[in-house]
Formats: sequence, C-alpha cells, structure tokens
Amino acid sequence: MLSSGVSAISYEYPETVLFRNLLIVLLMAFAAIAPIDASAGGSAVNIIYTGALHGELEPCGCSPKNQSGGLTRLAAFVSLRKTALSPYLLVDAGNSMAGDTPQGRLKVEAMLGAYNIIGYDAVAFLGSDTSLPKAFLTPLIDANKVPAVFEGGGRVVERGGLKINISANGSAPRPGMLNILLTEMPVAEAALLEGWQVIITSSGEVMAEPRLRPEAKGGVVVSAWPKGERFGILTIDVDKAGDLKSVSHRWEALAMDAPEDARVRGVLLAYDEKVAALLKDEERKAASDGPYLGAEACAACHQPFAEQWRATRHSGAFKDLERVGKSKDPECVKCHTTGYGLEGGFYSKTTTPGLAGVQCEVCHGPGRGHVMDFSLPMRPVDESLCRACHTRENSPEFDFKTYFEKIRHE
Ligand code: HEC
Ligand code: HEC
Ligand code: HEC
Ligand code: HEC
Repeated sequence: MLSSGVSAISYEYPETVLFRNLLIVLLMAFAAIAPIDASAGGSAVNIIYTGALHGELEPCGCSPKNQSGGLTRLAAFVSLRKTALSPYLLVDAGNSMAGDTPQGRLKVEAMLGAYNIIGYDAVAFLGSDTSLPKAFLTPLIDANKVPAVFEGGGRVVERGGLKINISANGSAPRPGMLNILLTEMPVAEAALLEGWQVIITSSGEVMAEPRLRPEAKGGVVVSAWPKGERFGILTIDVDKAGDLKSVSHRWEALAMDAPEDARVRGVLLAYDEKVAALLKDEERKAASDGPYLGAEACAACHQPFAEQWRATRHSGAFKDLERVGKSKDPECVKCHTTGYGLEGGFYSKTTTPGLAGVQCEVCHGPGRGHVMDFSLPMRPVDESLCRACHTRENSPEFDFKTYFEKIRHE
C-alpha cells in the first residue's frame, strides 16, 4: 500500500484491560471518511498527525513513484473535508523544521506560514528543531500564531466535548483528560510511559500500523511517516473516564492527483523567490579557465557521443527544473547540473550557462586536463557515481543495467 490512496485499520477494546480483537476493517484504494460514531456516553475524535518532516515542504517530483505528500495537499485535504473529519485535532510531533542554514531558515518560515493556514492545534518543537535559535524561531511562531509546544510543555484544548492535554512532557499526563504525548522517543521506549492514551513520535520510525498498549487501557503509539510522504489519521473513541474504547488508524498518501491549497502554494512560491535571491551572481565571476569545459567543447571532437547524449534525459535535466520553477534552488540544482559546488562547476544559468544539465563531465570528470593531453585516462565510470544522484528517494526505480542501456554511447 505504498502507492496512492488510503489504508485503514481498526481496533476495538473491550471493557477489560486486554484487547480482544484486531480487525483489519478496510484496506482499499479509496475510502470515504466514515463519520465519527460517538457511541453512548463517549466521545470520538480524529487526530490528524504529522512529524519528522525534516523541512520537506513537498515532494521533489523526480519520479512518479515517489510523489506523495506535501503541505499544499495536506491543507486542501483538511479544508475540503472539515465536516467529515470533525471533530478533529491536527498535531505535529516535532523534528519537522529544516536545519539552521540560510535556505533552511527560509524553509522554516514557509513551513510555519503553511501550518498557520492549515490550522494546527499543536506543533511540537523537538529534536532537530531545537537547533534553531529562539531569536529566529519565536517571532515566526508569533507571526504565524503557531500553537507551539516545547520540551516539557503542553497545552489543553477542547474538542468534541473532550478536554485534551497535548503535551511534550512525558511525565505529566493529566487525570480526567484525554492525554496526547508528542515525543521524539523511539516507539519501544515511548510505549513504556504511563498515563498517555495516545503517543505520537517523530522518531522517524516507519511503522505501518499503530502499536497497541492493552496494558495501558487501550493506549496507542503511532510514528509519523518521515518526510510527510503519508499523513496519519487516528480515530479514537473515548469513554467518560478518558479511557479508549476503540481505535482506528489510516494513512493518507496524497498523490499527484490530490488537490492543492492555493494559499499554501502561494507561500511556497514566495519561498522559491527568496531561495532564488540567495544566488549572488555578482559575486561569482564566470570561470573561463576552470577545470570544466562543458559539453559543447567535448562535442568538437566527440560528435557522435555528443549526439547520443543530447537524446538522453540528462541533457534536459536543467530545463526540467526551469519547467517546474526550481532552477534557482540549490537543493535541486546540485543533481541537475554539472559540477555544482565544485571548483569551476555550475553556479547559475547566468554565470555558467554552458554547464546546465547532466553533462559529459559529470561522469567522465573535468575535461581540461584531457584536452591538454589525450593520453591521460578519464575517470572510470561506475555504478556508485550514478547513485550519487540516482538515490532511492529521487530515483526509486534505478537499476544500473537498465539505466546504463538508456545512456550508452559508443
Ligand atoms: C580536441 C579534441 C578533444 C576534445 C575537445 C575532447 N576530447 Fe576526449 N578524446 C579525444 C581523443 C583524440 C581521444 C582518444 C584518446 C586515446 O584513445 O588515446 C579522446 C578520448 C576520450 C575518452 C575515452 C578515453 C578515456 O580515457 O576514457 C573519453 C571518455 C573522452 N575523451 C571524454 C571527453 C570529454 C568528456 C570531453 C569534454 C570535456 C572531451 N573528451 C573533449 C579528443 C578530445
Ligand atoms: C539527489 C539528486 C537529486 C536531487 C537533489 C533532485 N533531483 Fe530531480 N531528479 C533526479 C534524478 C536521478 C531524476 C531521474 C529519476 C528517474 O527517472 O529515475 C530526477 C528527475 C527529476 C524531474 C523529471 C521528472 C519526470 O518524470 O520528468 C524533475 C521535474 C525533477 N527531478 C525536479 C527536481 C526538483 C524540483 C528538485 C528539488 C526540489 C530535485 N529534482 C532534486 C535527481 C535529483
Ligand atoms: C551518465 C554518465 C555519462 C555521461 C553524461 C556521458 N558519458 Fe560518456 N560514457 C559513460 C560510460 C559509463 C561510458 C562507458 C565506458 C566507461 O565505462 O567508462 C562512456 C563512454 C564514453 C566514451 C568512450 C570511451 C571508450 O573507452 O571508448 C567517450 C568518448 C565518451 N563517453 C564521451 C562522452 C561525451 C563527449 C559525453 C557528453 C557529450 C559523455 N560521454 C556523456 C558515461 C557517461
Ligand atoms: C549529477 C547527477 C546524476 C548522475 C551522476 C547521473 N544521473 Fe542519471 N539522471 C540525473 C537526472 C537529474 C535525471 C533526470 C533528468 C530529467 O529528466 O530532468 C537523470 C536521468 C537518467 C535517466 C533517464 C531515466 C529514464 O527513465 O528515462 C537514465 C537512464 C540515467 N539518468 C542513467 C544514469 C546512469 C547510468 C548514471 C551513471 C553512469 C547516471 N544516470 C548518473 C542525474 C544524474
């Protein structure tokens, strides 16, 4: 079920401490959201959760196999289904911010802008998030009205007639309330904590199904899917004492055909513009005698090879970035150009136009030395070189033999 669609699993707890049934109720490509059935005396709530996004605003789009998730789709999902989801709670379990770099900070800004639009009830700042300086983070949290929860802290909200304690302090469950812990503890460790009906971790563990805790009166532990490739929805039914009566869980893999929220898209477009402004062309002089020559120079002596290369997708790799408006994003450019980040390699379309795309010298190595002395051997090309860009994430279908056949030139 890694493809698009929905998978749902339900569990039911009897009055006794031990759970009796583990029902796989639904496992289907598309399912309408079942309206919440708050049976007599109890309350039910949908907990939509994210975490461990690690700055992933949306999937890169490198492969149709790996395109699910993204904040624009999450926003649309929630706003289009408000009624069906209600009462619902939206939380982030932490480890979702980007690192403390110039581009990372722009991401955090975009992320919190998007969270504001999506309408979170609690956003935990844990683990890697804590490397961001408070002086940077606090004004953004305030400006975006982000309901932030820090290590040791928590907040209480009311939903569906329930008082809910959402906390990042594992030792402070509150009696008489539904207690939700946001943590970065590994699942096995978190499962030992007492007093929490729901524990959501951003440890990054991929756990297809929730971990049930029959000993904790039906408590449940879930782990946010890394990088937001799927969003979790935990539906719980709680009795008057705050104990769980039943739990069902499903993942939403919002695929390419899922609708987008235009406001969040606006935030991401503004982010792209700010990232582009990080390029300082005027500080880069175009190198005319650097180690890289560019494919045009190679073509002068290797015409047939160059023609074969032009017919591969490598030659159009930069144009593809331009097509999707990402040609000035260093995080994309590094794999879609020649020698990015290396001496004399690609910097920007303006300063180094001849090195756009995945050219000869990506594989064979910089060519200036070769042109001075043809007898110098070029760098041998092996699979590990391809895998620097054809990673599992960006090229899930990469297989050296089949891919090599497609770029072979002789
Ligand atoms: C001025 C002509 C000329 C230019 C320009 C040139 N080459 Fe060559 N290249 C040659 C010749 C001649 C040979 C054959 C040398 C031999 O067989 O000893 C060769 C051989 C090669 C080989 C196979 C030999 C080996 O050691 O692997 C590769 C790969 C290669 N060139 C890549 C490139 C690339 C990449 C560029 C552009 C950066 C380039 N060449 C630019 C003339 C050129
Ligand atoms: C680690 C290297 C890497 C990074 C980083 C990377 N790409 Fe890619 N990209 C690839 C590879 C490899 C492919 C080809 C995948 C395949 O077909 O197996 C690709 C393909 C693509 C395609 C063509 C998809 C198609 O089906 O036509 C687009 C568009 C694209 N990437 C956009 C981006 C954007 C936008 C970013 C930055 C957010 C990005 N890439 C970052 C390696 C990368
Ligand atoms: C994606 C990597 C890649 C790109 C891009 C690429 N090549 Fe190659 N090239 C190879 C591989 C792999 C071989 C097979 C020989 C080897 O294993 O080194 C090869 C072989 C060659 C050879 C023949 C070497 C020989 O021993 O006969 C030449 C010449 C050559 N390439 C030139 C070019 C030129 C010129 C370009 C750009 C127009 C280019 N290549 C682009 C990977 C690449
Ligand atoms: C500098 C990063 C980089 C390296 C190294 C690299 N590639 Fe690629 N490759 C890309 C990108 C980016 C694309 C997608 C271009 C696009 O469509 O925008 C791609 C696309 C391809 C495709 C087209 C996929 C398809 O389904 O049509 C093949 C085949 C391929 N690469 C083979 C190889 C092989 C084999 C090697 C190693 C010899 C290699 N690549 C090394 C970045 C790289």
